[in-house]
Amino acid sequence: MKEFNIRNLVRQNILELQPYISFRDLNEFKNPVFLDANESAAGELNRYPDSTQKKLKQKLSRLKGIPADQIAIGNGSDELIDLIIKVFCEPKNDSILMMNPSFAMYGFYASVNGNDVLLLDLDENFEIDKEEFLKITNEKQPKVFFLCSPNNPTGNSVEDIEFYIQNFDGIVVVDEAYIEFSEKESCIDLLEKYSNLIVLQTFSKAWGMAGARVGTAYSSKKITRFINSVKAPYNVNSLSLNKIIELIDKKEFIMVNVKNTLNEMYWLKNILQDMKCIKKIYPSDANFFLVEFRNAEKVYDLLLENEILTSKRSPKIPGCIRINVGRREENVRLVEMLKTVEL
Ligand SMILES: Cc1ncc(COP(=O)(O)O)c(C=O)c1O
Repeated sequence: MKEFNIRNLVRQNILELQPYISFRDLNEFKNPVFLDANESAAGELNRYPDSTQKKLKQKLSRLKGIPADQIAIGNGSDELIDLIIKVFCEPKNDSILMMNPSFAMYGFYASVNGNDVLLLDLDENFEIDKEEFLKITNEKQPKVFFLCSPNNPTGNSVEDIEFYIQNFDGIVVVDEAYIEFSEKESCIDLLEKYSNLIVLQTFSKAWGMAGARVGTAYSSKKITRFINSVKAPYNVNSLSLNKIIELIDKKEFIMVNVKNTLNEMYWLKNILQDMKCIKKIYPSDANFFLVEFRNAEKVYDLLLENEILTSKRSPKIPGCIRINVGRREENVRLVEMLKTVEL
């Protein structure tokens, strides 16, 4: 197994950066008087949130079976994508590698940070061509590889993930935003084996908390420390932190939500697959389908005119629209509108 010296991968100016941690968050107090942070003495939310997100990390540590010092919390996993690029990619010099098509924010944050984006085109089954992966990585030596599994927008999972981790001389980020909907195993257990792995998860999808903006990065102690050293101290607000902490105690909620979503997907797929305007529904391990229509432009416009918002992927993925499952009444509205499509 390759042992990585993570310090060799980290940007020079980040190496010596100390995480900003509020003094009070580093200590335990019994009966404190807080006159240290220029907060207001009164007000409903007058105190800054815990910059170390201790309680949430303890909860997650128990839930995921991973030490708290291997967990970083972000303002959504979006922020963590940005922070990872900030830690490892030297602006103007380094590049990231991402599957194509995949989640657009990897490319967005790389561009914001001044890093090139290398695209690894997926084949007709939306799988990675291993030869192409080896060729790009050897020639261009990207610093970070974003693997999205299940992949947004295609819905399928990446096969043989360990191959990519083993054959990449940089950081491999496995984005598992939709993992709870999938029967595939999370890569969290691989963290013990690979020091160049980061696993991203989020409370935005199966946990139903997109509005709270809370995402998690699981990685080695060293990588976690670097991610924490570049984050804004109070990156997640107290309301969201408390909400998520409460939610983790109601674990059955997520099981029910996932089950309902999957049942609804099954119901919807059964109806969609008999529709004349649809050519193909791609298999999905997530809470959405990539659907190929006979006339995607027309269907998308019709849906939009009727205030049914979907995600047009055509022409990049020819003929395709990404549709996530909603509540039954929303799905019925979609189906009724699709029934009106004339070929
Ligand atoms: C693959 C993937 N990763 C990350 C995110 C962002 O999640 P968050 O809401 O945690 O920022 C999304 C959201 O659509 C996504 O599809």
